[in-house]
Amino acid sequence: MSEQKLGLGTLAVHAGTEPDPATGARQVPIYQTTSYVFKDADHAARLFNLEEVGFIYSRLTNPTVMALANRVAALEGGAGAVCCSSGHAAQIMALFPLMGPGCNVVSSSRLYGGTITQFSQTIRRFGWSAKFVDTDDLAAVEAAIDENTRALFCETIANPGGYVTDLDAMAKIADKAGIPLIVDNTTATPFLCRPIEHGATLVVHSATKYMTGNGTVTGGVVVDSGKFDWSASDKFPSLSQPEPAYHGLNFHGALGPMAFTFHSIAIGLRDLGMTMNPQGAHYTLMGIETLGLRMERHVQNAKAVAEWLEKDPRVEGVTYAGLPSSPSYDRGQRIVPKGAGALFTVAVKGGYGSCVKLVNSLKLFSHVANLGDARSLIIHPASTTHRQLEEEQQIKAGAAPNVVRISIGIEDVADIIADLDQGLAAATS
Ligand SMILES: Cc1ncc(COP(=O)(O)O)c(C=O)c1O
Repeated sequence: MSEQKLGLGTLAVHAGTEPDPATGARQVPIYQTTSYVFKDADHAARLFNLEEVGFIYSRLTNPTVMALANRVAALEGGAGAVCCSSGHAAQIMALFPLMGPGCNVVSSSRLYGGTITQFSQTIRRFGWSAKFVDTDDLAAVEAAIDENTRALFCETIANPGGYVTDLDAMAKIADKAGIPLIVDNTTATPFLCRPIEHGATLVVHSATKYMTGNGTVTGGVVVDSGKFDWSASDKFPSLSQPEPAYHGLNFHGALGPMAFTFHSIAIGLRDLGMTMNPQGAHYTLMGIETLGLRMERHVQNAKAVAEWLEKDPRVEGVTYAGLPSSPSYDRGQRIVPKGAGALFTVAVKGGYGSCVKLVNSLKLFSHVANLGDARSLIIHPASTTHRQLEEEQQIKAGAAPNVVRISIGIEDVADIIADLDQGLAAATS
């Protein structure tokens, strides 16, 4: 069965999996094992030399985790993928083969707050750095790229504000500079946007969110398009030149479009150990089977809730890109034509105090630091996820003190609206 010709709904159920060859089990078994018996010494040597693909040790690969990687690669239209222990791990794993001390990533300033902290603080310990730019200002994006820039980074639908990034324009700039575009597609999922079709080289996911869809797993995935020419310049020596960390293997020369994926497994997972566990992969595989159905409902509900909120006098503004009043609306029609996701912010009259009261008053919504669950969720970013940031950074990231972020679930929309109605009454009375 050629996976390329199948629709996304079919790939979500079938891609990456076959009935278990040992038992015929129809569902992917949870291969709860750390190691795999080699047939003989020669077989072991061939596996370690990457001359034969197979399983060695579950820090590197595991059949359940591999099934998930292959399913996500198929959904995103990539050549290969690697699963990681979290979305944050996926971001480090995406940068790892590209960067070295003194290198930088040029990143959108509209990002999940944790990513801003990871990029502005933690990666500096590796000698890497990030430059944040407003991706509405394409000239500023181009100007920020210098000879040490190794990637451009953005989110398709930015958390928390629901801002839609012009991926085609970002890809054009990255192409001109000879660097890969990395897109965090967590909030859109491949059902709303496939960034590789817009020119992205790498797609990262927090599988913790919509992919699993029920708040049971912390996981991440990096998908490689397989289309970037790592040997076109001397910027990516780890991929295009003999790699001392893998007995001098030239990954691009030896593995072509699978170079990035094999590097990520053979060196990234081997040495950083940010591995997804098989049980987490199993839950995520289960979740993905219904991803398309859930995204349809998430989007339908989010649009109805955003339209209702926008008309409410207790509300100062709604950032949902599916509303014609949003500055992202036109771009959203091009980048996420099936819907602008289900995550947006709401500015509540009365500012910080009213936001806190609203969060405390809701009954159906859960007050949690998560998104993309089947349940409707709410958080006040300025006092939680974006708390580490300066107020100016919070505003740039779309997380000003007077906004709450809501992640609309798949419940009956009338119940979601009724809860918001009683919550807003309590918050603004
Ligand atoms: C858009 C986005 N990317 C990445 C992450 C990080 O993912 P994880 O929590 O799985 O590490 C998050 C977490 O909220 C996120 O919202």
